[in-house]
Amino acid sequence: MQPIRHATSQAKPDANAREVWQGADPTIATVTIRTLLRAMREKKPFAALTCYDATTARWLERAGVPVLLVGDTAAEVILGYPNTLHAPLDFLITLTAAVKRGAPRCLVMADMPFMSYQANEDDGVRNAGRFMIEGNADTVKLEVDASFASLVAKMTRAGVPVVAHIGSRPQHAKQVGGYLAAGKTADDAMKIIADADAMLAAGAAMLLVEATPIEVTEEIVRRSNVPVIGCGAGSACHGQVVVTHDLLGLTDRQPPFALPIMSMGKELGEMADTWKDRVRTGALGDHPYTLADEQRVEFFRRIGRA
Ligand code: KIV
Repeated sequence: MQPIRHATSQAKPDANAREVWQGADPTIATVTIRTLLRAMREKKPFAALTCYDATTARWLERAGVPVLLVGDTAAEVILGYPNTLHAPLDFLITLTAAVKRGAPRCLVMADMPFMSYQANEDDGVRNAGRFMIEGNADTVKLEVDASFASLVAKMTRAGVPVVAHIGSRPQHAKQVGGYLAAGKTADDAMKIIADADAMLAAGAAMLLVEATPIEVTEEIVRRSNVPVIGCGAGSACHGQVVVTHDLLGLTDRQPPFALPIMSMGKELGEMADTWKDRVRTGALGDHPYTLADEQRVEFFRRIGRA
């Protein structure tokens, strides 16, 4: 199996390119699951991006990105860990609330971090509730297979819209030996189809499929009555999500399905160089704070410089 961050992309430009969801309509208060179901029915693929802070969220909402994922990739891109296992629960809840404050009209999807739902179902439901209440999340995302069906059903029964993340599951990277593609044998592909079926039967509000061959994705999309978001799963999906820092050119390596659109790493370097020059030369712009004349006289008198 190939590491997905180096896999040869199977995605080709869609010959029958469909109309893309055009962004936030000012008459729509917020993007909801119903908005995405409509986009699915109208065959208008929608964009989703990871987001970890309020400022970026504000700009992504202004740009008309309907779905923001507060991913456990925050462990990598924000906290600097080598994998997604190190995303503290409280930290992700805090980031989720920040993103929702920055983009109140976007559908905010919160990633449930490693060990916040695997140990037992009661903790899982309670932690999902924390994302909804403290984080103001609109949905929670869990990396699952069919064995999580009962947990997903419990969350759904409690009123938590669950995005079932199937296919490649980065929280299992240590178990399988890296970030690998999934469903590359007929056996493995059939297992992922069974995972999708189990999640749909358990009431998942959406599926997220990561790093699967196009044929496997297409079959999942064909069976699904809810939106399927892909991450390196090909263009058949109703929505597509990638890590924003990859598109910005801030990461050192990007997967082939999320090639940089900008060179922000380079631009950050240029910004730092310019600031260093300004500091060195004292060219700091007009100074905005002044003492009124009489205050200056009084101040100088008191420090003995009158
Ligand atoms: O955490 C994350 O960013 C994800 C992906 C699907 C991009 O889960």
